[in-house]
Amino acid sequence: MIQVGLIFIFVYLMFIIYFNLTLPEIRWNWKKINLNNIIFPSKFIWGTATASHQVEGNCSNNWSEFEKGLKADGSPNIANHQISGIACDHWNLYSKDIDLIKELGVSFYRFSIEWSKIQPDQNTFDQKSLDHYSNLIDTLIEKNIQPVITLHHFTHPIWFDQLGAFEEEKNIEIFVKFCIKVFNEYSDRVTYWCTINEPAVVATQGYFSGMFPPGKQNPQLSAMVLKNLLLAHVDSYRALKKLDNGNKAKIGIVKNINQFDPWRRWHILDWVISRVVDHFFNGSTLNFLNTGNFNIRVPGLAWIKYKNKDAINSMDFFGLNYYSHNHLKIKLSLKEPFILKYKKNDTMTDMPYTIYAEGIYRAIKLVSKQNKPIIITENGIADKDDNKRSLFIERYLYAVYKAINDGYNVKGYFYWSLMDNFEWAFGYDMKFGLFSVNFNTQERKLRKGSRSFINIVKNEK
Ligand code: BGC
Repeated sequence: MIQVGLIFIFVYLMFIIYFNLTLPEIRWNWKKINLNNIIFPSKFIWGTATASHQVEGNCSNNWSEFEKGLKADGSPNIANHQISGIACDHWNLYSKDIDLIKELGVSFYRFSIEWSKIQPDQNTFDQKSLDHYSNLIDTLIEKNIQPVITLHHFTHPIWFDQLGAFEEEKNIEIFVKFCIKVFNEYSDRVTYWCTINEPAVVATQGYFSGMFPPGKQNPQLSAMVLKNLLLAHVDSYRALKKLDNGNKAKIGIVKNINQFDPWRRWHILDWVISRVVDHFFNGSTLNFLNTGNFNIRVPGLAWIKYKNKDAINSMDFFGLNYYSHNHLKIKLSLKEPFILKYKKNDTMTDMPYTIYAEGIYRAIKLVSKQNKPIIITENGIADKDDNKRSLFIERYLYAVYKAINDGYNVKGYFYWSLMDNFEWAFGYDMKFGLFSVNFNTQERKLRKGSRSFINIVKNEK
């Protein structure tokens, strides 16, 4: 009996030592780091980003439907019953907004094409909307700013939802047709393309937590949707590469890496749960893109084994979004298997995210295993008082700069976001903008904290 106990303790310790050594929670001594000397390579891609539904206004899609609804407990889907409505009226004000991008000194703008405006029903491509984005692209180019297009940023037409959206593998070809249409219209002028923005966020928020449309809570379906979104990326990548301009285009997927660390580094169950969540959210996608194998194995919750060799090498760059670092504490309840915890000394942003710049360095290291150039397609802070933005920018850009100096192939960085906008389930309460927006007058104003970004962008080698 004593022997069994000793073996158990030995194995337990081995696991804990192994995890602690292989997955350290890096913490740098910021007091010793000089943040005034951050210099990026001269051809570095500097940009800022938005997404159609969050800025354009008057969208009619899966999200605008969801905004009207309530959760099972009667509370509104969006904080305080807010709706996106006219948003930043970027649809009409885009030319002025491009002047704001110029003010930042960056030369790339990542935006998304609103599928529901281009294809109001399955059999119609709307010429006016196609012309609209064509004008936006021309205006950007006239002002020396390169457009970067995202084809799916959380939204799709209501008719696509009615067909079952990405719950059904057969619907992927409908999305691919839309991508082909858009690519044929603009690829003579647009080099950089992002297929799907954050598939794991769509799958987990839409089908696991229910915070995003369609508000379902079904882990197996969530895993299935994730698989289908990744397949939609692969199929659209393969289809676009075959078109005119396909060869010269640079097409990538955008993946949000969330860091999941155990709350107690000595507790095996905190380790197990943080590894399981990491496997679902990060590992399954990265493994699929690397090997063509998509495996989600969480007994009792979700189980999928799928293989598609086309996934290997299905990108010209890896779009990395980075926002959050979570500590997980096991709860031993099937309904709520863990809780998220934050350390006392961590600085919180207005979102439930901490300032942890080491996390973006870890994320870069992780995705560099894909052996593709990395572009940080989003990173930013919600900070309504604007008293942490500057520190955030300096620390995160230091981490990116350090990653480049340590040999990681990071080619670009897009700040999220150009201006305050509709922050999904949080509505207009979250202020991510380099420019603040007065939503009564549509006036934009550069935030003080954003100066750090402008200064670092200027500071090229
Ligand atoms: C999304 C953005 C969002 C940002 C801040 C990312 O997950 O791509 O649309 O506004 O996070 O939460």
